[in-house]
Amino acid sequence: MAGKRVHTIALIFGTRPEAIKLAPVFLELVRRPDEFEPLLWLTAQHRQMLDQVMTAFDLRANRDFNLMRPGQSITDVTAEVVKALEEAFAQEKPDVVLVQGDTTTVFTAALASFYAKIPVGHVEAGLRTLTKYSPFPEEMNRRLTSRLADFHFAPTAWAKSNLLAENVSEDQIWVTGNTVIDALDIIVDQVRQNPPVLDEGFPSEIITSGRRVVLITGHRRENFGAGFESICQAIVELADRYPEAEFVYPVHLNPNVRKPVFKLLKGYSNIRLIEPLGYKPFVWLMDRCYFLLSDSGGIQEEAPHLGKPVLVMRETTERPEALEAGTAKLVGVDRPTIVREASRLMDDAGEYAKMSRAQNPFGDGRAALRIVDVLAEQLK
Ligand code: UD1
Ligand code: UDP
Repeated sequence: MAGKRVHTIALIFGTRPEAIKLAPVFLELVRRPDEFEPLLWLTAQHRQMLDQVMTAFDLRANRDFNLMRPGQSITDVTAEVVKALEEAFAQEKPDVVLVQGDTTTVFTAALASFYAKIPVGHVEAGLRTLTKYSPFPEEMNRRLTSRLADFHFAPTAWAKSNLLAENVSEDQIWVTGNTVIDALDIIVDQVRQNPPVLDEGFPSEIITSGRRVVLITGHRRENFGAGFESICQAIVELADRYPEAEFVYPVHLNPNVRKPVFKLLKGYSNIRLIEPLGYKPFVWLMDRCYFLLSDSGGIQEEAPHLGKPVLVMRETTERPEALEAGTAKLVGVDRPTIVREASRLMDDAGEYAKMSRAQNPFGDGRAALRIVDVLAEQLK
C-alpha cells in the first residue's frame, strides 16, 4: 500500500499489573508485523514481580532501565523515570508510546513522552474515585495521565463518561474493554489444561486437601500503618474462627507491607504467608479459592470474570462495575466489618451463591484487538 509504513510503538511499563495488562496488547501488535514494530521498555519500577510476568508471557525487553531501589519513594521513581526516558528518547523516538493504568511509571512515562512530543496512548483510561488521596497516588496519576494522553482506551462506558466529564474530546476516546480479561483468558486456559509448576514454598497440599481457601493480597499506600494492622487483626480473628479453612497470603514485596504482615500474621497454622506468586500459579489459585480478600485493582476485575467473590479492603473504588455486578463488596479496613462480611461468605450459602456468579463487566477478552485496530486506523 502506497505510503504505508511500519509504526514503532513503545510499550513502557514498570510494575506487575501494567505488565499483565499490556502483555495482550504486545502479543496483538506482534501478530501484525506489516503495520507495527512493538518495543518493550521497562522502567522496572518493580523487579522480581515484573520479571514474574515477563516469564509468564514469555516476553523480552528491548530496553530495561532497571530503576527499582529497595524502599524507593514516589519522588525517586518520578525523577528517575523522567530522566531515563529523556535519554532514551534522544536516542530512539518511537511513533507512539503506550502506557497502562495508574502507577508512577504511567504518569511519568506520559510526562516524558509529552516533553519529547511523542503521542501517548493510555490503556485503562478514565477510572476515577474523585477522591484525591484514595487510592494514593493512583487517583492523581490517572487524572494527570489523561491530561497528557492523545488516545484514551477506556475499559467501560462509565470510564468514558468520566473522561467526557473532564472535557476529553469524544473522538479521542474508545471503549475497548479491559485488557486484563484478555490476559486472564490466555492464562486461565493454560492453567486449566496444564496446572502450573508451583513456586517453591507454595503449600500445594492445601489444594488437594479440599479445605476452603481464602486468598489474600494487599499493598495500598493509604492502608500503610493502622490500616494494615487492622487488616491483619481481622485475618487472625477469621483464622481462629474458621480453623478448617486456609488463609493463603502471597505477601507483596513492599517493605511497608511485609513488616506488619510478618510481624502480626507469622506463626498461625492456617495462615500461609508466601512470596508473591507468578501470574500462572496465582490465576490457578484464584480459580480454586473460595473467595478473595484484597485491596488490589486488578483483582477486582479478574474476580467477577472467574465468579469469585472479592471483599475489597478499601474505602473507595474506581471500579464500581464490580460492585454493580455483585461479585465485589467494599469492606474498608475496619476489623469488625471485614470479619463480619467474610464470616457471611463462609456461613451463608445464599450470600455466597449470590456473589459468586461469573460476570464480565470489564470486557470480553478482545480489548487488545480493539486497541490495536484503533492505532492502525489513527496512524494511517
Ligand atoms: C506500585 C504502584 C501501585 C501499584 C503496585 C502494584 C506507585 C507509586 N505504586 O506500588 O500503584 O498498584 O505497584 O503492585 O506507582 N519491591 C521489590 N520487588 C518488586 C516490587 C517491589 O523489592 O518486584 C519493593 C522495593 O523495596 C520497592 C518497594 O517494594 O522499593 C515499593 O515499590 P513501588 O513500585 O514503589 O510501590 P508499590 O507499593 O509496589
Ligand atoms: N497477582 C499475581 N501474583 C500475586 C498477586 C497478584 O500475579 O501473588 C496478579 C493479580 O492476578 C492481578 C495483579 O497481579 O492481575 C494485581 O497486581 P497488584 O495487586 O500488585 O496491583 P494493582 O492491580 O492493585 O495495581
